Amino acid sequence: MKRPDQKTGGNPAASESRQYHELAKARIAGGVNSNVRLSGAPMCFVSGKGSHLTDVDGNVYIDYALGMGPTILGHAPAAVIAEVSRTLALGQLFAGQHTLELEVANEFCACIRSAELVRFGLSGSEMVQAAIRVARAFTGRPEVIKFEGHYHGWFDNILINLNPPVAAGGNPIPRPRHLQSGGQSPHASDDIAVLPWNDVGAIDQYIGANASRIAAIITEPIMFNTGGILPKPGYLEHLRQVTSKHNIVLIFDEVITGFRVALGGAQEIYNIQPDLSVFAKAFGAGFPVAALAGRRAIMEMFASGGVNHSGTYNANLVSLSAALASLRELTANDQAAFKRINSTGKALMDGIAAAGRKYGAELQVSGMPAAFHTCFPRGPIHDYATYTTADQKKLGRFLTALLESGVRPTSRGTWFVSAAHTDEDVASTLNAVERALQRIG
Ligand SMILES: Cc1ncc(COP(=O)(O)O)c(C=O)c1O
Repeated sequence: MKRPDQKTGGNPAASESRQYHELAKARIAGGVNSNVRLSGAPMCFVSGKGSHLTDVDGNVYIDYALGMGPTILGHAPAAVIAEVSRTLALGQLFAGQHTLELEVANEFCACIRSAELVRFGLSGSEMVQAAIRVARAFTGRPEVIKFEGHYHGWFDNILINLNPPVAAGGNPIPRPRHLQSGGQSPHASDDIAVLPWNDVGAIDQYIGANASRIAAIITEPIMFNTGGILPKPGYLEHLRQVTSKHNIVLIFDEVITGFRVALGGAQEIYNIQPDLSVFAKAFGAGFPVAALAGRRAIMEMFASGGVNHSGTYNANLVSLSAALASLRELTANDQAAFKRINSTGKALMDGIAAAGRKYGAELQVSGMPAAFHTCFPRGPIHDYATYTTADQKKLGRFLTALLESGVRPTSRGTWFVSAAHTDEDVASTLNAVERALQRIG
């Protein structure tokens, strides 16, 4: 509920948020603690409750950024906060085992059908590293295939070709490697081959010539880090077939899709059994917890101690109690939370698309009800290269107009939906979308 002194939306460019940001920049590099937050307005929040965030100016936003996906139950969900608070009194970290670990592992494996064994960590980036390492150890092969436009964390070896320049001279396979950060080792990704996604021919061509050196394929099952693009019918099945045929480990990076597009992640929706999969974000409802799970034969390589996966804070009590409470909330009442999220998300997707048609805007809404992407395409979009033709400037104007009306998708145009979003939120959001489309023309 809004207080009388609270405003809906605002102009963060001329505000306390801006002043805070200037002060923060004098002490914190860039005034932010994750480079992803450099883009977008310099907003400074004081609190969140349910689907709403309040900033230092008293502006209230309907939040669809949801911490970049994690807060699937909304901000400060009572059941999770209560469980974490209860556990806090027992301690933080024991450098040894505690009973919550098995409890969470059992609940987790009941949700994820490919999970025979699991390991917990803190972030998606590090569990991706564990996945790649164990895949190499299991196969005894060096190379990993990743796809253009996909993001698997910020570490040297894998932070490549997220948004490279589109190759001018045709369609080289593999793509020229494009490092995304200053200071990245140019050799850390020597054993990563980059291919276009959603392209069966590219996979067959590359694997046909190199199968014996390929340890793994890592893929976002839905390309949420570029355009919310769905896999073409049969594409994930093809990846499964070709990897099985050549004893290549298939890794699904379900950091965004896991516990979000369905309780069992994208692998449940597409009915594919990856060898390994990585989870984070919605798994902990906003608390730092991640997981790597998969086939027993592969995961056993950690058990022998032959493959190292470590971390001081792994499976700490706060993270695991949050995960436990979150899983219980997501599974309660025959997954009522997912029914709610899916109906809210569908109403938003349909409503935004209808507003686009009403105002003659080439507005595309793609993805799943629980997470979708809006953009202004100039042609059909099915992969990274086709996504780059969309009108990014127009998207920027659309997102700014929404923010000023109190609606906050991510600064890249992705919308995450929580179980806390209400029908009233949907109605206010669709009004804001219409106003934004009118304004940007
Ligand atoms: C698909 C995917 N994988 C991995 C990561 C990295 O996860 P984290 O930010 O928890 O390190 C992200 C983060 O956005 C992601 O979207």
